[in-house]
Amino acid sequence: MNAADVLGPGRTALVTGASRGIGSLIAAQLAREGGHVVLTGRSAGDLEAVASDLSAAGADVSFIPADLTTPRAITALVETIEHQRGGIDLLVNNAGGDPLREFHAMTVDENLRTLRLNLIAPVALSHEVLPGMLGRGRGHIVNISAMAGRASFPYTEVYAAAKDGLIGFTRVLRADYHVRGISASVLILGAIRGAGQGQRMLDESGMNASGFMAPADSVARAVVKAVTKDKAEIVVMPGPGRLLRALLDYFPALGPALNRAAGATSTMQEIIQLREARTGTAQAT
Ligand SMILES: NC(=O)c1ccc[n+]([C@@H]2O[C@H](COP(=O)([O-])OP(=O)(O)OC[C@H]3O[C@@H](n4cnc5c(N)ncnc54)[C@H](OP(=O)(O)O)[C@@H]3O)[C@@H](O)[C@H]2O)c1
Repeated sequence: MNAADVLGPGRTALVTGASRGIGSLIAAQLAREGGHVVLTGRSAGDLEAVASDLSAAGADVSFIPADLTTPRAITALVETIEHQRGGIDLLVNNAGGDPLREFHAMTVDENLRTLRLNLIAPVALSHEVLPGMLGRGRGHIVNISAMAGRASFPYTEVYAAAKDGLIGFTRVLRADYHVRGISASVLILGAIRGAGQGQRMLDESGMNASGFMAPADSVARAVVKAVTKDKAEIVVMPGPGRLLRALLDYFPALGPALNRAAGATSTMQEIIQLREARTGTAQAT
């Protein structure tokens, strides 16, 4: 299989979490490659707005609203696209997020919901698209993970578990299906500026940390690179990301020490309090 087999005219990509943030930029970048891009997310109005902007710029896109924490919605989403387009050649599991509240302050159900969105949904979607990909002998799955677990970022226990789980899932998926023409890649993101949850935190806190953050469009470009160069893993952050990730694994106390030095825990607490004051309760990002 080569990249032309899953990107470009005649091919269909599905991008989850495309109603806002990084996902809308990934959808735009993939549309520039020339194939059809299906956007999904829960908010029909936001999806329509993104799709309409992309169409106005000449992209071939459509959208289907779906709540990916519901298994039936995942099955229906894939069936609809396969029926309408004949198959899904590229799946980008980008939808995700973290409620950003203390682990013990959330109910078990709230914690499980984070797991469902960030880990179970990508696994279920991959499971749904694989038979079609195997039948056509081509396909690529790109999963969007995070440095959260490696860096012990405050208040991300379950999110970190899900995102680290996604890395293991992608490695084994890639190893098992590569010989049958299906590839898988994982992008491991540090903090991202310009769009998405990281930028929202900057805006809320008034912090100036953008020097430590990679631009959102670099994630979109990395998705295309993962496919065209068939990369197993790409770390998206300023500086030597893969080396930093390896160091954080080798020295598990390094992440918490860096967070303490950067004042990350107190900043996160301020953001939680700001959100609670604004809404009466803490909100998902
Ligand atoms: N931004 C960063 O700094 C950063 C860093 C590391 C990793 N990441 C990862 O990058 C990915 C994109 O993040 P982002 O910053 O762009 O987040 P974002 O702006 O909060 O966007 C999240 C997207 O996921 C969708 N989504 C949320 N819950 C959903 C559900 N139950 N069913 C279907 N779709 C749902 C949202 O759409 P609806 O609300 O319309 O459903 C939205 O389109 C995530 O996987 C995130 O974990 C981001």
